[in-house]
Amino acid sequence: MNILVTGGAGFIGGHLAESFVTDGHQVTVLDNLEPFYDVGIKRHTIETTRTAANDTDGTYQFVEGDVRDADLVTQLVTEADIVYHQAAQAGVRTSVEDPSKPNSINVNGTMNVLEAARDTDLERVVLASSSSVYGVPESLPYVEDQRKQPTSPYGVSKLAAEEYARVFHDVYGLPTVSLRYFTVYGPRMRPNMAISNFVSRCINGEPPVIYGDGTQTRDFTQVGDVVRVNHQLMTDDAADGEALNVGSTDNISIDDLARVIRNEIDPSLEIVYDEARAGDAEHTHADVSKANRLLGYDPSTSIREGVRSFIEWYEANRDWYEPLVRRS
Ligand SMILES: NC(=O)c1ccc[n+]([C@@H]2O[C@H](COP(=O)([O-])OP(=O)(O)OC[C@H]3O[C@@H](n4cnc5c(N)ncnc54)[C@H](O)[C@@H]3O)[C@@H](O)[C@H]2O)c1
Repeated sequence: MNILVTGGAGFIGGHLAESFVTDGHQVTVLDNLEPFYDVGIKRHTIETTRTAANDTDGTYQFVEGDVRDADLVTQLVTEADIVYHQAAQAGVRTSVEDPSKPNSINVNGTMNVLEAARDTDLERVVLASSSSVYGVPESLPYVEDQRKQPTSPYGVSKLAAEEYARVFHDVYGLPTVSLRYFTVYGPRMRPNMAISNFVSRCINGEPPVIYGDGTQTRDFTQVGDVVRVNHQLMTDDAADGEALNVGSTDNISIDDLARVIRNEIDPSLEIVYDEARAGDAEHTHADVSKANRLLGYDPSTSIREGVRSFIEWYEANRDWYEPLVRRS
């Protein structure tokens, strides 16, 4: 299949591109190498994916460009059989500082992809959405059709994008699916996230720093589980027109997460608390039964297993990853 992965030099898009290439597909990545975090991580992802292509029947083409460039997006979408749209200004806190940017990338960029896909016979457009669309919980765990009240400009932008995807399905018959990711982690993850940050600090003998009192809870989702459900969508139309929670079944407080990581690396370290950050949700927790019913989604990696394997990966890749994490 010809697969376009926007944002494919990033964390999740990179894992998607690598796994598609490994399976022998023709993969094109569109990414502008946005310096939201150290681009060295993205360059490493590109090289890893290119290398994976050398060992398989798959091919890999990297296009440095912007999803806000409608002509370029149209050209690449026209050549594809399926689009995995991951490109976005991620990050709740950044969006609080500069709300226009996530709007222009996440909303207008998504519109470019949908408009380009509208008159094609694409298999599907799969959109990376986010648990941030829920914001203030009406109830927990989040179920897909409950009230949405995002607490950040980022959450609003992701909600607008997935609503456009639904409308393009309902009005134009374009097969679209939005996957609401819940705090994804794993190798090459963004440096400015709790797991990479805690691991890096503990490995360097520094206490993990928690923003707030640590009672916030999250569903941390291992990237392998995310990749599996995306693969399913290559051929499965059961979720077309829908938005689905893609979380884990292992809800954990940030305090417990810091303790799990600290205890794995150095139990003698203290845990430090700092001021809570604006825009962060208090609790996120996914009911994944809709994704399970429609696509057989069954997240299998427990947080303890996932953290242990991330620490092992970090140690094996410390020479190149750590300096980039520490600079961010
Ligand atoms: N990682 C998570 O926990 C998480 C949770 C919920 C949703 N998501 C969503 O999943 C997707 C991937 O997230 P990620 O964690 O891999 O983030 P990431 O920042 O690692 O990847 C996003 C990629 O998009 C690229 N990009 C940004 N603006 C662009 C533009 N204008 N044109 C082209 N490329 C652009 C970036 O360079 C980056 O490589 C995003 O849509 C994000 O909103 C992620």
